[in-house]
Amino acid sequence: MEDTARVLGRFYDGIEFRGFHQETAEDLARYSGVPVWNGLTDLYHPTQALADVMTLMENTDKPLNKLKMVYMGDARNNVANSLMIICAKLGMRYTAISPKSLAPDANLLRDMQAVAKETGAIISISDQLKDVDGADAVYTDVWVSMGEEDKYEERIRLLTPYRITREVMQKTGNDKAIFLHCLPSFHDLKTQVGKETFEKYGLTEMEVTDDVFRAPASKVFDQAENRLHTIKAIMVATIGRQEDQ
Ligand code: NVA
Repeated sequence: MEDTARVLGRFYDGIEFRGFHQETAEDLARYSGVPVWNGLTDLYHPTQALADVMTLMENTDKPLNKLKMVYMGDARNNVANSLMIICAKLGMRYTAISPKSLAPDANLLRDMQAVAKETGAIISISDQLKDVDGADAVYTDVWVSMGEEDKYEERIRLLTPYRITREVMQKTGNDKAIFLHCLPSFHDLKTQVGKETFEKYGLTEMEVTDDVFRAPASKVFDQAENRLHTIKAIMVATIGRQEDQ
């Protein structure tokens, strides 16, 4: 990767890495000499988190430091990690609700709780659905992330009680609460994965019910659009920075 990074750095003004290993993104950044943007790794999804915050700002009438974000599902995946980080940095409330075995990594949680002390954020974890109470945004992601394709059976068993349903949205007690998802999503039987999961396990929906996904409170396509705007902002903010220094 060191040699590849040096070659790519001579061809391009910036590189977006979307792949498996976080280390690869870091090596590219270390050796290419150009800005490297993490477009998704096994550990983090920071550019998604920026689009998510933009979506929150567009769809709620509270300042970020008064907002409660609840992530429910596989709370130790790349998307959940980056959400916890951005919420900690921006002084937001973040609650990860998951079975204990899928709770956020203890070191990351400790680090983000330390950041929270500086920013005023409140970062907590729970395995209880009732802690969705007061959420301004309820976020979920697929139950099986990249590289874990052999885990469907286990995840379905662990995460079915944490599916985002209309009842979960009602439990927020906030009729303005929005639903967020980074996509792709398995909310019906129109995908290959959806069909296979139905045939094998009898599930018609996985992490979110179709009615919640399609409801007016669902802002998933705003999020998808905001990926474009936030990536452009990141490029403007970073390209050419090396030469300036
Ligand atoms: N957690 C998902 C994110 C997809 C954008 C995955 O890693 O597959």
